[in-house]
Amino acid sequence: MLFSPDRYVDALHFAARRHLGQAIVGSELPYVVHVTSVATETIVALATDRVDDPDLAVLAALLHDTIEDTCETAAARAELHVEIGRRFGSGVADGVLALSKDQDLPKPARMADSLRRIRLQPREVWFVKLADRIVNLQPPPAQWSRDKRVAYRDEAIAIAEALGDASPALHARIRAKITAYEAYFDALS
Ligand code: NI
Repeated sequence: MLFSPDRYVDALHFAARRHLGQAIVGSELPYVVHVTSVATETIVALATDRVDDPDLAVLAALLHDTIEDTCETAAARAELHVEIGRRFGSGVADGVLALSKDQDLPKPARMADSLRRIRLQPREVWFVKLADRIVNLQPPPAQWSRDKRVAYRDEAIAIAEALGDASPALHARIRAKITAYEAYFDALS
């Protein structure tokens, strides 16, 4: 079996409950649509780029934003890390933690710090960060300045360079998405 559908559904329900009431930024769609899109991108890559523990990649994809986006305090983040470990295993919990930006750092330092921590994780976790940015390279919000769009593209290049070795399929996907995104630099989307 490519991955466990039972564990997928457990993690999807858990993520859907945690993100209940949240919408994708700039949209009315429930946040869980983002989460399942990242899982889909991950699963498609797993069909060609084999890993030792496909469940780790799939479950971390479904849960990847729970610690970052559904906890108000450091104590709540620590508690959720423990709960994810209990339900889904410590590998998944540690992966989700690495995929969460450290809110105590100044904002410009957060992505580099997260990429450094992801690189210390198994490559299954690298898949999720690549898949997340592939999904997020959508037409930017109309109010984003050109500089902000360029910075978002540059951040995507940094992700591709830091983690692309984990999966040729996702590396090709993110490169194509980056090129497509550049069309939005001067477009009034
Ligand atoms: Ni995400």
